Amino acid sequence: MCGIIGVLGDHEAAPVLVEALKRLEYRGYDSAGIATVNHGHLDRRRAVGKLVNLSDKLVHEPLAGKAGIGHTRWATHGAPTEVNAHPHRGRTVAVVHNGIIENYRELKEELAALGTEFVTQTDTEIVALLAQRYVDEGAEPVDAAFRTVDRLKGAFALAFLFDGYEDLIVIARMGPPLAIGHGDGEMYIGSDAVALAPLTDRITYLEDGDRAVITRAGAEIRDAKGALANREMRQVRLDATRVDKAGYRHFMAKEIDEQPTVVAEVISHYVPSGSDEIILPDDGIDFTKVNRLVLSACGTAFNACMTAKYWFEKLARIPVEIDIASEFRYREPPLVPGTVSVFVSQSGETADTLAALRYCADKADRIVAVVNVPESSIARESGLVLPIHAGTEIGVASTKAFTAQLTVLYLLALKAAADRKALSGEQVADRLSALRGLPAVMNAALDLGDAVQRIAIAVSEARDVLFLGRGTMYPLALEGALKLKEISYIHAEGYAAGELKHGPIALIDSNVPVVVLAPGDDLFDKTMSNLQEVVARGGKAVLISDETGIAQAGSGVWMSVPMPKVHGDLTPILYAVPAQQLAYHTAVAKGTDVDQPRNLAKSVTVE
Ligand code: G6P
Repeated sequence: MCGIIGVLGDHEAAPVLVEALKRLEYRGYDSAGIATVNHGHLDRRRAVGKLVNLSDKLVHEPLAGKAGIGHTRWATHGAPTEVNAHPHRGRTVAVVHNGIIENYRELKEELAALGTEFVTQTDTEIVALLAQRYVDEGAEPVDAAFRTVDRLKGAFALAFLFDGYEDLIVIARMGPPLAIGHGDGEMYIGSDAVALAPLTDRITYLEDGDRAVITRAGAEIRDAKGALANREMRQVRLDATRVDKAGYRHFMAKEIDEQPTVVAEVISHYVPSGSDEIILPDDGIDFTKVNRLVLSACGTAFNACMTAKYWFEKLARIPVEIDIASEFRYREPPLVPGTVSVFVSQSGETADTLAALRYCADKADRIVAVVNVPESSIARESGLVLPIHAGTEIGVASTKAFTAQLTVLYLLALKAAADRKALSGEQVADRLSALRGLPAVMNAALDLGDAVQRIAIAVSEARDVLFLGRGTMYPLALEGALKLKEISYIHAEGYAAGELKHGPIALIDSNVPVVVLAPGDDLFDKTMSNLQEVVARGGKAVLISDETGIAQAGSGVWMSVPMPKVHGDLTPILYAVPAQQLAYHTAVAKGTDVDQPRNLAKSVTVE
C-alpha cells in the first residue's frame, strides 16, 4: 500500500532509490517517482504504471544528487496519473506518503483561503503545501515538517525533502510502518527492512507518533509529545529479506513450490525434534484457562482463520468466533473473561487487522499474533507472537504464507487439545507424525502440476467459476476462488457445498466450471450429491480428490486431479496446492500479471 524510501548517501541517489523501489513494488505499482536535491536544487521525476517506466524516463531525463526520496503508489485519492504520482511538492518541499490523510479537505480549504493552488487530486499534496506554507512563513525545514505533522489526522508514513538541504530528511509515522536504516556515513529510510536490505542490516523502527530528523551523521527520534525517544536498533537477518525468483518465471510459482520446505520449517520451530510436545515461544498459552477464541484477519489470512475454527472446535472443544477484521470492531463485540484474541497477518501491517487488535487490546485476556514479519506493528502490539517462518513472500496473491499460517494454527489447535485433554497424548502424537509427513505429501501434490495446468487452460476460457467444499474444504473453496479471481480476473465464488442449492445453482450451465474439493473423508458422499446436482445441470465438474474418490464419483466428472492421501485434518493444507496451481496456471494462460495483479497490493495499510 505505497512504499517509501529515502537516502542521504555518498553516491548518486537515483539508482539506489530505484533499486529499493523495485523491492517495494509489491506494495503498489500504479506509479512511481523520486525527488533529489542536487547542488541545493530540488527536482523530481515521476511516471505512471510500473517502476520500469520511471527507470526508462530516468535514462532520458536523469536526476543527479546524493540526497533523495522515492515512492511507489497504490492509488487511494486521485487516479493513477503522473500528476497524482509522488513525490508531491511545493516550491521548496517534496513529500512522499504512505497512508491516508483523513482531514485533508479541511486543510485544503484552509490553504485555499490563503490563495494556495492545487494541481493534484491527492491528499498528500496538502501535506507538501502545508509544509511549504510554514516554510514561507519563515519556519526552518524541521520545524515546518513537524508543525505540518501536528496538523494531520489519519494514517501516514511520511518523508520530507527540502530545497537547499542536502543533508536532511524529516520523517514521521502514524500507522503505516517506517524504518530507519543505519549505514556507514550514509542513512536511509524505508517502508520495511526488505527495501533496505541491500543497503544495511541495521534497522530502527519508528513507533506510532514518532518523527525523526535524519542526517548523514545519524537520526534524532522524537515521540508524539516531542521528547527524545530511544528506539532499539535491530540487526535484520538478511536471508529473511532475500528477493529473487531463483530461475522461476514468477514469484508466485516459486512460492507455491517452497511450501513443503516452509511447512517443515514451521514444524521444526514449534515441535522439538524427537518430541511430541508443541512448544510455544515465551510463556505460551495455558489453554485450560481459555474459554473462547476470537480469530480475526483479512483476505487469505481470514480463510486460514476459518479453517482453524474447524480444528479448534473439533479437536480442542473451544468455542471460536471468527471475523473479517474490517467488520469486527463495528459490532463492538463484548469479549467475555477467558477470551484469547488471535490476529493472523502475513505482513503484520494490515490496517484493519491492526484496528481490530487495538479494539481487543484492553478487552481480551491475551492478544496473539500469527505473523510472517516479527518486527511488524501487529507483532509489536501483541502479547504473544507466533511467527510463521515463511520467508519473504513477494507474489501479491498469498500462497506459502497461507499454508504456513495453517500449519501454525493447526499446531496451536493440537496444543489446545492436549492442554484441555480433549485429545489423548497418543492422538496428538499420531497427528504430529502425520504432520511431519506432510511436506513429502505436498511434494507429491506439486508433481501433479501438469494435470492442474491442463485443467487451467480449459478454465481460462470461462467467465465464471464456482468452488465447492464441505468442512475444512469450505474455507479452502473460498481461498481457491479468491486466488483465481485475484490473478486471472475470472469471476469466481467459493461456496459451502450444501449451499449450492440455495442460490449459486442458478448460475450453472455448460460454460461454468465447478471445482469440487472433496477428499475421501466422511463428508465425501454428501459432497458427491452436490457434484451430481452440478452434472445434472450440464455444469463442468472438476473434482479434486484422491483416487478412491475419483473412482467413486464416476463418469460425470469433466476433469479431475488425483491427490495423494493424507490425514483428514491436513487436507486443507494439502489441497491448497492444486487450488493455488489452478489459479496460477489459469492466469499464465490468460497472460495476466501474475505477481502484480491490477488494483491489488500486498500490504494494505489503509482501512
Ligand atoms: C492483501 C493481500 C492478500 C492478503 C491480505 C491480508 O489483500 O493481497 O494476499 O491475504 O491483504 O494481508 P495480511 O498481510 O494481513 O495477511
